[in-house]
Amino acid sequence: MSDKTSAVSIALVLALTAGGAIAATSAEKAIALRQAGYKEVGKSFKTINEELKKDAPDTKLIAKEARMMHGHSLSIPKWFPKGSGPESGLKTKAKADIWAEPAKFSDATKAFQTESQKLRVIAGKGDVEAIKLQVKATGASCGGCHTPFREK
Ligand code: HEC
Repeated sequence: MSDKTSAVSIALVLALTAGGAIAATSAEKAIALRQAGYKEVGKSFKTINEELKKDAPDTKLIAKEARMMHGHSLSIPKWFPKGSGPESGLKTKAKADIWAEPAKFSDATKAFQTESQKLRVIAGKGDVEAIKLQVKATGASCGGCHTPFREK
């Protein structure tokens, strides 16, 4: 091996290593970001359900939590960059099907966006029975994504 080729191959190895490291870091960031986002969604949804068990639910609080959930739902399309799935070797419950079936995943995302938006609007009107029904529909949209796209 001439000095020139070994210099080139060393440069190549360094470039590949650096590229790999960058990819791993961004996958790690993406996973941390979405898990934190879903944690917030989970917290809001729990708060809403607990509020609804009370004799006089605070519908303003429910509307506020619904607004937060809807805000997160709009970010979901940015939470799943390629390379941040199970192939990253990192700890994630996201299934590879998210990237293999993007249209289906997008439909599941849109369903949640639609239901959480409806919940936000209905909660603002203060009718507890109507809110309960819409919370059910919203919960179904969580399941509509978790069942196909999240590991148990
Ligand atoms: C479009 C798909 C989708 C929708 C809709 C969705 N989720 Fe998830 N959720 C996921 C995926 C995928 C993960 C796993 C993320 C990971 O581990 O990288 C997840 C993870 C979570 C987590 C665990 C977060 C953590 O790591 O601690 C909670 C809690 C959660 N979701 C709650 C909800 C609730 C509540 C709803 C509905 C109000 C909902 N999700 C709607 C796909 C979805």
